[in-house]
Amino acid sequence: MSPDGENAIERMHRDHGRMLEMIERIRSECGQRNKMDSCGNCQAPNRPVCQGNIDQLIRGFVEATLKHCLIESMFMDDRVPAAHRIAHNQSHMDIAHQLKSIRVVLSACGNYVQAIEGVERIHENLLAHFRDFDEPLESYLAENTLAHQGA
Ligand SMILES: [Fe+2]
Ligand SMILES: [Fe+2]
Repeated sequence: MSPDGENAIERMHRDHGRMLEMIERIRSECGQRNKMDSCGNCQAPNRPVCQGNIDQLIRGFVEATLKHCLIESMFMDDRVPAAHRIAHNQSHMDIAHQLKSIRVVLSACGNYVQAIEGVERIHENLLAHFRDFDEPLESYLAENTLAHQGA
């Protein structure tokens, strides 16, 4: 059973807040990245530990964001105009593509400075996505809830 509009909006807000918190954690994990563009040049004694942490945090963020987009796509079924649904899902696919390319950076070269820069680019795109797609979706879901309540 699909959740009602109000629960869907609450879920979206909770997820968005968690995703932004995860980005902040990832950004704060490396204190050296203003000084160098590759982990290979880093002399910090805790390098293996911080690399492990960043790897885990970024993989968690990628998983959480992919899952969020999937859930949001389910919320759209039959509740929003087709034009919105198509454009919104296309934007989710663009985000998914970017997330997957960050995973490739992690697996292929282990340069976490570069991976964090990728997360920062996604941060910008996510903020634009929240404004251009998720806010309109919330309005559709709110309208839908009111209609069901007979308001
Ligand atoms: Fe979305
Ligand atoms: Fe969203």
